[in-house]
Amino acid sequence: MLFLALETSCDETAAAVFTDEPRVLANVVASQTEKHLPFGGVVPEIAARAHLQNILPVIEEALTRAGVTLNQIDAIAVHHTPGLVGALLIGVSAAKMLSLALDKPLLAVNHVASHIYACRLAAGRDIFPCVGLVVSGGHTALFQCPSPLKMNLLGGTRDDAAGEAFDKVGAILGLGFPGGPALEREASIGNPTAYNFPRSFLHDDRIEFSFSGLKTAVLYTIHGKGVSKGPTPQPGPLRSDVAASFQQAVIDVLVAKSHLAIRQTGLRRLAVGGGVTANKKLRSALEEMTTRYGIELFIPPMNLCTDNAAMAALAVEKWRLGEFAALDLDAEPNWLE
Ligand code: KG4
Ligand code: ZN
Repeated sequence: MLFLALETSCDETAAAVFTDEPRVLANVVASQTEKHLPFGGVVPEIAARAHLQNILPVIEEALTRAGVTLNQIDAIAVHHTPGLVGALLIGVSAAKMLSLALDKPLLAVNHVASHIYACRLAAGRDIFPCVGLVVSGGHTALFQCPSPLKMNLLGGTRDDAAGEAFDKVGAILGLGFPGGPALEREASIGNPTAYNFPRSFLHDDRIEFSFSGLKTAVLYTIHGKGVSKGPTPQPGPLRSDVAASFQQAVIDVLVAKSHLAIRQTGLRRLAVGGGVTANKKLRSALEEMTTRYGIELFIPPMNLCTDNAAMAALAVEKWRLGEFAALDLDAEPNWLE
């Protein structure tokens, strides 16, 4: 049984081929970062147009790398929610056409659920029930996950997602887009205790996140209280210490709330996904916390953390249950389970 899956929810055009084991045979991602770079963030229309250009070459590349032909594919999977609507529509349209033309079933999967499923894929064994933490440019949320297709939201962000905060603070510090990787590099030469930035809800018994106050605190540290614009900071201790202290504040909150979710649910497994999981300090802080409390931690390798189509192997679970999508499938920009 061979699946072809598509991902076009944000700024990566991706296709993957996997078996029903599930085992990944090809995982191809075409990044658009360069196209969005001059704008300091993802421009929805540019993303949609780039998906339109990239989708067929990416599918062809995935089939070639997997060593299979389109006629050997038994089912088509696609992330149809959540994301940028114009971007999602490209993947959904392509998947529907493939399903119709090949006369093969169509499976629609939730991109955020797939980020958690990436842990199952990488582990090669069952990881459910678990607490799921998704930290990306678009999402910061904790879930109770009794099974691959069931996700109960425990709490999310009130404003910015963690990755978005990295991107915005990266821009404030003049580190370019996307901010995450650049900020991590800058933070590695700074002092994480130099500035005591706000950690929203840290001592609350609520699973909730907020990063906009932290972003504003960084802004005022750089330009002065109440001043939101000024010259871009130059390399030096101010820039690296602010980067390190900001990163530490985000990590402290993510780790504390993951621990709270574990305590509240009584679950003994934590599965983490999303682009921010690339952050080495976050990984080691989560490792430390889970080791201390005897929790099993699942973090996929980098290529399964950032947006990709292989994690849509969650479709295998839907296929087993016979949960197929109809050809009137729509793209849903907002969360849909
Ligand atoms: O999951 P992802 O590839 O796309 C979304 O669905 O959003 O996540 C991208 C986000 C960006 O905000 C990026 O800045 C952040 O992940 N990111 C990082 C790191 N690498 C990527 N954040 C912190 N540290 C990193 N090393
Ligand atoms: Zn994502």
